Parts: sequence; structure tokens; C-alpha cells
Amino acid sequence: MSLKEFGNIVDFQEKISFIKDFFLEFYKGEIEFFNSLEKHFRTRAEFSFYHENNKLYYAMFDPQTKKKIIIENIDFPDEKICNFMPILLEKIKVNPNLKEKLFGVEFLATKHDLSTTLLYHKNIETIDQDLAKLSFELNCNLIARSKNKKLVFNNENLKQSLLIGNKEIFYEFNNDCFIQPNTFINEKMISWVKENLTTQAKKDLLELYCGYGNFTLALADDFSKILATEISKNNINFALKNCKLNNVSNIYFTRLSSEELSQALKKEREFFRLKNINLDDFCFSHVLVDPPRAGLDKSVMDLIKQYDNIIYISCNPISLKENLKVLSQTHKIIKMAAFDQFVNTPHLECGVLLTKI
Ligand SMILES: C[S@@+](CC[C@H](N)C(=O)[O-])C[C@H]1O[C@@H](n2cnc3c(N)ncnc32)[C@H](O)[C@@H]1O
Repeated sequence: MSLKEFGNIVDFQEKISFIKDFFLEFYKGEIEFFNSLEKHFRTRAEFSFYHENNKLYYAMFDPQTKKKIIIENIDFPDEKICNFMPILLEKIKVNPNLKEKLFGVEFLATKHDLSTTLLYHKNIETIDQDLAKLSFELNCNLIARSKNKKLVFNNENLKQSLLIGNKEIFYEFNNDCFIQPNTFINEKMISWVKENLTTQAKKDLLELYCGYGNFTLALADDFSKILATEISKNNINFALKNCKLNNVSNIYFTRLSSEELSQALKKEREFFRLKNINLDDFCFSHVLVDPPRAGLDKSVMDLIKQYDNIIYISCNPISLKENLKVLSQTHKIIKMAAFDQFVNTPHLECGVLLTKI
């Protein structure tokens, strides 16, 4: 099967056979597969608004034909989102100020909270009273956005808790953070990493692309210390907050891009952001990477190749394979898993554990 064909696969069974074949040259062992829930699996859902003869509908665009699809009954978003969608629509429909120039909506749900972001092609400050009333009447966390403007009504932060093994881990984040889109699968991914670490000698962990600490907080018990880095200031601010929420004191979160981290570890450059962290105090036995779709560039690969154990979480099998071509010169895969994070789409999340040859 070619890469082009993979782009059309949406069925999980087909994704499984593809992935087995695709990585065969690097790994012939068992690949563990984690299926998603069939309904209400999407944590984040985005829709357009379609205006027709004074009426208003939620709509999506078919990625292939680009044709609009009016949405009435859907069951893939989180149940809180599905329940709230018609209530919100009814309220907006009858208010011309709220309806005019409204083009999109983004919902974000956790186990405990829901946040709704309305997107406008007009200055939202002119309708701030209407938006405040809407948020009050629906008792909802509402955000409105238009070009260079953002208004928040009620609260923009969401609380989340994940059950990893028999321990509950607590998180807080907002809409601007990176959020794994399928909470059920997210719990499976973190648990898989944690469970498969047990046989290796664990000292300190180096984590790149840590977000708001999704994996980090759950792994705090497994390592003496963790250095976790990430490019986004907003993510790091929540990560620091999440340490406090979980009473964790052995994680050092700092805002550094992967490129800056490489420079800092090679002592090529000093960073004020590292003034309270002595990199020489760490003895990394493991490195965890969860990069964006493009995968890892050469400088990051050169960096992670130095460590005995690599945990690679990837949302793109194609860039993962490219990176494995290089990593397999120094490391061998000991475990692999595939997670159907993006149900009914051609995307697939993979987890790979590698150890030095
Ligand atoms: C796939 S997300 C993973 C986040 C986190 N591991 C999680 O599970 O929520 C990738 C993260 O990498 C961050 N990122 C993107 N480019 C980066 C770079 N060059 N250096 C460091 N972090 C980067 C993004 O802000 C994002 O939080």
C-alpha cells in the first residue's frame, strides 16, 4: 500500500493493516491497537454557520468536494457539546445582533466543563452587551473573537481530570493550549507510556513538546526529576499551574523551543529562562517527544539520539517513519502502539518506545 492510499483510509481495521506493513522494516513485533469510543469522542469540535433567508444553521464543509453540509444530528462530539448546540442556536437565531456576521463556532469540552467560542466578521465590542446576556442566560463559558479582538464572558479556563492507572491527575487549560482531541484515547496513550516504562532503569526524563503537561504530570512518579519544555508561553503557564494542582515538585517546566533546548544542552547559548535550572543536575535516562505533524528536525534527532530510551508519540505516521529511518541507526523499537485518536479520518496516532542498540 502506498502513502497516497493511506490518505484515503478512514476505517480503523484498514489503518491497522496499513500501519503493520508501513513500519515492518523497523519493527516486526506486536503492535497494540487502541480503538476509540464510537460516539461522543471529540473533545474539540468546530463548525461554520450557514445563513439562508434569515435562518441559521450549523454547517461543515466536505474536505473532498468542498460542499457545505448542514448539520442537524451529529454524535461524534462530546455529549456536552451535542446537548448545547441546539440551545445555543435557538438563542442566537432570535437576536439579530448576535446573528449578523457570525461565521463560526468552536466548542471545547472536558469531563467537567464546556467552552464556546463564537467567531465574527465584525467588531465584537459593538455587541458585548448581547454576548454578556447570552453567557449569563445560558450559564456558559463564552468567548467571542473577531480580527485582533477577544472577549471572555464567565471563565475561559477549563478543568480536566484523567484517570491514569488508579490515580486521578488534574489539569487546567484554556482554548489557546494544544489539546489532545479525544480524551478517552488520551487516557489510553498516557497509560500505555506509563505501563511500558516499568521494566527500564529510570532516572530523569527530558520531555520536548510538553504542552500544558498532559504526559508530564502523569509521569512525575516514575522519574526522579523531569525537565519539560515547550514553545508556547500559554501552555507553560498552565503547566506550572498544573504542578501545583497535583502537588508535584519534581518537574521543571520551561519555555524553550526544541531548537533552543538543543543549544542549551550543548552549552552553545545561555538562556535567562534557565536561570533557576542547572542542566548539569539532570541524568536523563529517557526522552519523550510528542512533536507537531512535521515530526523532528535534524537538530532534535541529534539531541535525542544521545539518550538510552526514547518515547516517541506521533500524530503523523509519515514523518514518524522518516524519523525512524535515522533513529533506527542507534536505537531499536521495543514496543509500538496505534491509537484511533482521529476516528473516521485518515489520521492515526502512534506511540513508539525505542532503546539504544
Ligand atoms: C502535538 S502537541 C503535544 C502537546 C502535549 N504533549 C500534549 O499531549 O498535550 C505539540 C506541542 O509542541 C509545541 N511546539 C510546536 N513547535 C515547537 C517547537 N519548535 N519547540 C517546542 N515546542 C513546540 C506546541 O506548542 C504543542 O504544544
